[in-house]
Amino acid sequence: MNILFICLGNICRSPMAEGAMKKILENMHMADNHFVDSCGFESYHLGEAPYKMAQQTAWKHNIDISQQRQRLFSQTDFDKFDRIFIMDSNNYRLVNLQKRTESDMLKVDYLYNMVKPKQNISIPDPWGGTYQDFEHAFDMIWNACHKIGEKLMINSM
Ligand code: 4NP
Repeated sequence: MNILFICLGNICRSPMAEGAMKKILENMHMADNHFVDSCGFESYHLGEAPYKMAQQTAWKHNIDISQQRQRLFSQTDFDKFDRIFIMDSNNYRLVNLQKRTESDMLKVDYLYNMVKPKQNISIPDPWGGTYQDFEHAFDMIWNACHKIGEKLMINSM
């Protein structure tokens, strides 16, 4: 399965999600069966590595995201990916603006709906915040990615 994580900047939340999901799949010996990527909407940090505080937060959990590079969402991502996970309501609005047909949006869901289905709870943007804010976002992301891993294992995604 091809899984895409999206946030606004693609330098904090979605890179941590990409790293967490890859680590979980590695731990489950399922990394070869799935493709994981991330992207964003803001071009301020195009081509850059994830923000230092995101890198350090991921590294605390033995996840190296330093090789990731910022890229923008493209409409072709609707074709390339089977599932697209967004972090918050603004991300949802921005993806929705780019849909070509209603069926594009059937692939899109709030990441935290994997933990609390249908509640559309946002994973708060830690950009400009404290290490505690990054850790809080990471915790939510980790738990949601774990649920994705469990669903992939039983083929229910
Ligand atoms: P992210 O946080 O969406 O979790 O990557 C942000 C990082 C940078 C910006 C916005 C959000 N920015 O506008 O530069």
